[in-house]
Amino acid sequence: MSTLLQEKSVVDSFRGKKMVSSSTYSTLFVLSFTLSVVFPITGGVFYEELTEAISMKLVEKTTHLHFYFHDVVSGKDSTVVRIAGPPESSGTGFGDTMMTDDLLTEGPELGSKIIGRAQGMYGVSAQHELSLLMVMNYVFTEGKYNGSSVSILGRNHVLDDSREMPIVGGSGLFRLARGYALAHTVKLDMKTGDAVVEYNVYVSHY
Ligand SMILES: *[C@@H]1O[C@H](CO)[C@@H](O)[C@H](O)[C@H]1NC(C)=O
Repeated sequence: MSTLLQEKSVVDSFRGKKMVSSSTYSTLFVLSFTLSVVFPITGGVFYEELTEAISMKLVEKTTHLHFYFHDVVSGKDSTVVRIAGPPESSGTGFGDTMMTDDLLTEGPELGSKIIGRAQGMYGVSAQHELSLLMVMNYVFTEGKYNGSSVSILGRNHVLDDSREMPIVGGSGLFRLARGYALAHTVKLDMKTGDAVVEYNVYVSHY
């Protein structure tokens, strides 16, 4: 059996397409042998290339996530705190910077099932329009993705109907993630700044 064929049968068994057979066991033996070559047990190795191990195991998939983000700026149940900015706010609030621990829910109501939290920062990054720099981790607390997170770094031109922000990474099941988030405001209180935002996130990961 060539190395290429052995690698393919490992990929198939990860996909669940193949029943466990003696050839799978021998493949796993070869795999563990290969890994012990790729990850030598040595003291003080500064860096190693792991390309071979990654190409053997991983199959990329895309996951669609749908949820609602609650930015509660006002009141005693506020999940947002202003952490920096100029002493006197300009028209757009340029420089105002907030830290959030916002709830993510399954449905648009705040009382709907909580599926995660948006922990991070946003700051007003434009002088002549309402545009934010978003630096956020969305961590999930329900179901399969409990404990996994995706990281967003992007521009949020808040008055647009649909804003696109890059997913630049992730953790847990979203390790090595990349993708994009589409945000659409469903409710905005212009007086307090409280907002409910619908998110559709498309994330490619392994
Ligand atoms: C999510 O994971 C945490 C930590 O492992 C655990 O305490 C919690 O019960 C889990 N939640 C659900 C809904 O499974």
